[in-house]
Amino acid sequence: MSESILQIRDLTVTFATPLGPLVAVRGVDLDVGAGELVAVVGESGSGKSVSFLAAMGLLPSTATVQGSVMLDGVQLVGASAKQMRSVRGRLLSMIFQDPLSALNPVHRIGAQISEMLRAHQKMSERAARARAVELLEVVGIPQPGDRAMQYPHEFSGGMRQRVVIAMAIANSPKVLIADEPTTALDVTVQAQILEVIQKVQKQFGTAVVLITHDLGVVARVCDRVNVMYAGRFVERAAVSDLFDAPTHPYTRGLLASLPQAGKERLVPIVGFPPNMLRPPSGCAFRARCADAISDCEHAVPELRAVGAAQSACIRAAELMQPR
Ligand SMILES: Nc1ncnc2c1ncn2[C@@H]1O[C@H](COP(=O)(O)OP(=O)(O)OP(=O)(O)O)[C@@H](O)[C@H]1O
Ligand SMILES: [Mg+2]
Repeated sequence: MSESILQIRDLTVTFATPLGPLVAVRGVDLDVGAGELVAVVGESGSGKSVSFLAAMGLLPSTATVQGSVMLDGVQLVGASAKQMRSVRGRLLSMIFQDPLSALNPVHRIGAQISEMLRAHQKMSERAARARAVELLEVVGIPQPGDRAMQYPHEFSGGMRQRVVIAMAIANSPKVLIADEPTTALDVTVQAQILEVIQKVQKQFGTAVVLITHDLGVVARVCDRVNVMYAGRFVERAAVSDLFDAPTHPYTRGLLASLPQAGKERLVPIVGFPPNMLRPPSGCAFRARCADAISDCEHAVPELRAVGAAQSACIRAAELMQPR
């Protein structure tokens, strides 16, 4: 891996709720190399969004964030609101599933992008407008000069997501967090948006963290995958290793539930993720795991090296032997 641009250490996020403290993220570590495209995968509620909203300083005041998030040498945990405003959009950008929420309905697209540019760079109005049109071209919007004069409602969902990407990369951030950027789009448009994200990564050297519940998306574009379950990473591996030889029963479950050509039916993972207000002792996956043994109840398994991957299953090496 190249020099790490984003280093997350022991990140823990606790929400104060009427039912008591809910620990949504439990001691997460992650390194993202400069210019790398990594995936974070997991079921709904596993803590994917909360981890990166914490890094962005975008969680509500009911959240307590502990641990360390270093971005290009800058500590983001505990940074002031002013520091975070300077970091967001300039060093670190995030895009979401619903592009409309990121766009202002009453302003023209070009004006919104140039405003983003001028928020962080000394630039004339005119230069910013010209750069906005260039950015629309980068993300594959046809007739970018004319389109810059239009409003968000005049764009299709896929085109809006391109606009949001243009805004997110306007100030050449070091890291782009893409949180389910294609989930709301139909399949052909999904592929196009992934291509735009890959183009940005390659052309500008932007590191990308792609958050998704879809391993099919991961297989297409990512270098490394981090699998999250109940607020922790339970497996990390190169994409090809993860597909060829998954080390964690949860990852095997995710792969089995993936639609594949020639496969008759999908096998969903049985059961539900644990209640994060009252997580079970030991391995959080054990209640759903066909391979669980009594030792799985005792301690929370740490990520350990298994071949070239890391796995938080105490039986990883044993279960990977051909049976
Ligand atoms: N503002 C909040 N207050 C209390 N609990 C929250 C809050 N936001 C998220 N949570 C809880 O934190 C946990 C992790 O949520 P998160 O949104 O990170 O999941 P996710 O992995 O992104 O899921 P999805 O795939 O559905 O987007 C969940 O149990 C969720 O209910
Ligand atoms: Mg989410």
